[in-house]
Amino acid sequence: MLHVHMNKAAQDSNDIQFTRFKFSTKRNETWDIQTKATYVEESIIYDEDGDLVIKKKNDDCDVIGIYHRMSTSLNLVGLQLWRGSLLMCDYAIHNAEMFRDKNILELGAGVGLTGILLGQYAASILCTDFNDGVIEMCKKNMQNNHRFFNSNSSFSCQKLDWFKWHKEELQALCPNGTDIIIACDCIYSDSLTDALFKTIYCLLKHCSSMGKMEAYLPLEKRLNFTLDDLEVTCHEYDYFRKCLDALAAKNLNVEIVEIDCLPQYFEYDRVQQLELWRIKCI
Ligand SMILES: C[S@@+](CC[C@H](N)C(=O)[O-])C[C@H]1O[C@@H](n2cnc3c(N)ncnc32)[C@H](O)[C@@H]1O
Repeated sequence: MLHVHMNKAAQDSNDIQFTRFKFSTKRNETWDIQTKATYVEESIIYDEDGDLVIKKKNDDCDVIGIYHRMSTSLNLVGLQLWRGSLLMCDYAIHNAEMFRDKNILELGAGVGLTGILLGQYAASILCTDFNDGVIEMCKKNMQNNHRFFNSNSSFSCQKLDWFKWHKEELQALCPNGTDIIIACDCIYSDSLTDALFKTIYCLLKHCSSMGKMEAYLPLEKRLNFTLDDLEVTCHEYDYFRKCLDALAAKNLNVEIVEIDCLPQYFEYDRVQQLELWRIKCI
């Protein structure tokens, strides 16, 4: 069994959970570079009668409510919510202008938190996944949080299996072209990584709206002690890095995004193993 990586006690339960993910985008927050935490300064203001009002800590918080599971078998990992998606949400809030009016395609979207958060900025969001149960849960979460999608934008969720597509099918997904691809925490098996990279490569080469598409891959390195190596290794991550090198050799720009100074807008454990990679057409 795999366990969800959130600030919520892990429970061995097949039950669907409902979690309210609080976040704040308001500027009365201060990012403390020492503690790497965001704190909200209490501000003192006066109402129209001149009475003192102390603004409470959570006054400016918004909430995305998400149905998900805390633990699952491997084929249903998308029903859990992974830290890579929370890192992507932080990055998107902090760089909102980069996502504004963009056509965004999410691969391996899981329960849809990142797509919903991006709905505030994007022209369109298409969340995709391969598992029917995951897609249903994602649709339900998108509908419940429809207030995040701006009225002119389009948002939907549909099936896309990285092992089963044709170039024309990928092109048909976004008739106006795709500007940004995201795939959060999708690196955990070499064969999946191969299929994911082939999908991203085809999208970057053939489905860009203006030849300027970029892909974001946030992930958490999962370290294991193996008897074969007699040391702590991260084989899937090493393989991922080889795939990135192969893309760079095909004349794509591959870079790690600096996240040390990225403020944390969501509450979760920003562990050191979290990384964010960007791939761009040159
Ligand atoms: C670890 S989960 C991450 C889910 C979500 N992005 C998050 O960060 O919470 C990996 C995701 O990849 C999806 N996935 C696995 N194999 C896939 C395939 N062959 N095609 C498309 N999606 C796949 C899973 O269903 C799952 O949603």
